[in-house]
Amino acid sequence: MKLKNVTLTAVLAYTILSGCQTQKPVTAPSEESAATAQSDRNASEIDRKIEDLLSKMTLEEKVGQMAQITLDVVGKGDNRYSSYEPLNLDTVELRKALVDYKIGSVLNTANNRARTPEQWYKIISQIQEMAMNKTRMKIPVIYGLDQIHGATYTAGGTMFPQQIGQAASRNRELVRRGAEITAYETRASSIPWNFSPVLDLAPDPRFSRQFESFGEDPYLTSELGVQMIKGYEGDDNSIGHPEHVASCMKHFLGYQVPTSGKDRTPTYISEEALREYHLPSFKAAIEAGSQTIMINSGIINGVPVHSNHDILTKLLKEELGFKGLVVTDWGDIEYLHTRDKVAATMKDAIMLAINAGVDMSMIAYQYEPFCNGLVELVKEGKVKQERIDDAVRRILRVKYNLNLFEKPTTDPKDYPKFASKEHEDAAYQMAAESITLLKNENNVLPLKKGTKVLVTGPNANSMRTLNGAWTYSWQGEKVEEFAGKYNTILESVQKEIGAGNVTYVPGVSYKMDGFYYDEFADKMDAAVAAARKSDVIILCLGENTSTETPGNINDIYISDLQTELAKKLAATGKPVILVLNEGRPRVISRFEQQMKGIVQIYQPGNYGGDALADVLFGDVNPSGKLPYNYPRYPNALVPFIHKPSAEQRKAEGVYNYEADYNPQYEFGHGLSYTSFKYANLTLGKESVQMNEPINVSIQVTNTGKRVGKEAVHLYTSDLYATGITPDVKRLRRFEKITLEPGESKTLSFTLTADDLSYINRDGKKVTEAGEFEIRIGDQVKKFMLLGNNTIGKN
Ligand code: BGC
Repeated sequence: MKLKNVTLTAVLAYTILSGCQTQKPVTAPSEESAATAQSDRNASEIDRKIEDLLSKMTLEEKVGQMAQITLDVVGKGDNRYSSYEPLNLDTVELRKALVDYKIGSVLNTANNRARTPEQWYKIISQIQEMAMNKTRMKIPVIYGLDQIHGATYTAGGTMFPQQIGQAASRNRELVRRGAEITAYETRASSIPWNFSPVLDLAPDPRFSRQFESFGEDPYLTSELGVQMIKGYEGDDNSIGHPEHVASCMKHFLGYQVPTSGKDRTPTYISEEALREYHLPSFKAAIEAGSQTIMINSGIINGVPVHSNHDILTKLLKEELGFKGLVVTDWGDIEYLHTRDKVAATMKDAIMLAINAGVDMSMIAYQYEPFCNGLVELVKEGKVKQERIDDAVRRILRVKYNLNLFEKPTTDPKDYPKFASKEHEDAAYQMAAESITLLKNENNVLPLKKGTKVLVTGPNANSMRTLNGAWTYSWQGEKVEEFAGKYNTILESVQKEIGAGNVTYVPGVSYKMDGFYYDEFADKMDAAVAAARKSDVIILCLGENTSTETPGNINDIYISDLQTELAKKLAATGKPVILVLNEGRPRVISRFEQQMKGIVQIYQPGNYGGDALADVLFGDVNPSGKLPYNYPRYPNALVPFIHKPSAEQRKAEGVYNYEADYNPQYEFGHGLSYTSFKYANLTLGKESVQMNEPINVSIQVTNTGKRVGKEAVHLYTSDLYATGITPDVKRLRRFEKITLEPGESKTLSFTLTADDLSYINRDGKKVTEAGEFEIRIGDQVKKFMLLGNNTIGKN
């Protein structure tokens, strides 16, 4: 059972539940080789230290390193599931875990509550003191936390938009800067290991964690994932630097596509599809040097991923050559026995997972069965000593790389830029660039500042919905307690145009019940009456916040009450601007046509209200682009990456299928207050040999009256493929540019045959000679690829 620091009652009630890449810093070749030599020396020095330690460690000490517990286990309290506040560590429990059981890692917060940097420093100092002064081997603990959109479990930390909004910004530099700031503030909280980024491909809008991802495109996810890792770990992955943290790629592999759309339920994915769509972001991140990885809690083709040797060892460790640490997700070894029934006992579950390739178990609460069980399994010869040594080597290497032996804690006093204006500005900037203008009938936006507005809807006056889950608390339920000083949408609009111009009536509100919520009509008639007296309505709809199993839904339509409110407001004849504030695209087709303007803000963080007000009233020109298809109907969840047969009506012009590909808004859609013209799509050659670069250029002009940013996307289409029907089109490059009114820029991209490949039925990467299409904006060109087909390894 997965529990996140909830009270025992809640515990019991809880049911299971490029062409355009950024450049490396310029260093002279001799400097570079000197740096490489130095880092090789450091690496072999670390290897020597690891071997030395390993040779002295007992089996129990090694197994302890492979165990991770949650903070409540060692917090003073009535049981392991919650602690008293204010939090104090229970030295008896701490000693038992770290000294008797030799546990090597702790995660999460206690009581599901953010803590100040000073509190974190105190807690982690006590833990390290026990680990390094009271144990025989004096190995520091590695502390891990989900600081996934800023320093999310640090009170006072800077909150960025959730990853989905960051993906909409299409801005590599801002993504990297956000991760750098997060690393800094996480270290300011004494925490060296961040369970981020999410590299899952997220093509299913029903899934409760789509907001945690970079959306549904493998290339976009790979590019931004790499930037985030560089931001966390530094260019050279120098995680020992006191302003860097170890990243943790998650959730390997194929997590966000369960057949039912519900968290941690089974899915079926062919090997080709796994490799074609789900693997590239992890492969790119491993190449970028990410040092740890977390495993998918789900079940693929009937096999729980935590017990899948093919995925964890053959693919990850052998084929991809991953040298880092493999950690389970929450309680997942236990689930092999209790939930997935592939192990008749807990001990069998441990055997399966460790033999499959798991290095560290995120046990959470009951660590004794894991520690005792694994020691017995080694003694019985069911888990090999070499497997244990391999796991412990990987764990110790991350601890050494983090410099924890020398510097087990980092003191908040050394982090003067924590939550500084500079950090705040970066978070605001990211929020502003993520906002995506989906519809702007007759240029209803931007609004004039003297306009009398009604602000309404359940998301209008909530810091919680701006931030989303994993903010100060697991489901985001404690946001209001910590984020009082920031502005909700209502407060930002009031600041922007003066409170006298703003009326607020909720119309619909959220009612909380523990982690779950419901909705109720909250002065809906008064909202409609107020609408009649206003010039324009800013209607803030979406969802309340949730993640994982509590975020499962049975109906992807936006709620009936919100639909009713939207329709009644539209019926007044006053223009309605719909602001969508949601963790996944809830279907709005029952009233979309009646909305004059639609703005998607995703979950933009603490500065999202300010950024939105600036967009609505024209101080900021929106530039976000959708990172997924926004569905039009619940039974038409066709992703952006789809096969030609999903477009039969278009292709054949015969059938009148209601079920044809017709999303409400497509991946890449996003309007601006200015206009852009694409022209002169040029190919270096119209016939290219397999081994030649494919040079592409395009001219983009700002034809409107305001300065604007435009994310330019380059797509390719393979017109015919052997054996596997090709995807209609695929994103291969993107770049975001700024253009003054009247200004033109010519962008150049270079593709290679590799960019035109697909994974064939043997699981091999193949590029076939033949006809292709390139598309940028409304410009399309065909070209021929000549020569012999190339077949790669993967
Ligand atoms: C989530 C992970 C998270 C972990 C630790 C799990 O339930 O799936 O994404 O990192 O908990 O909090």
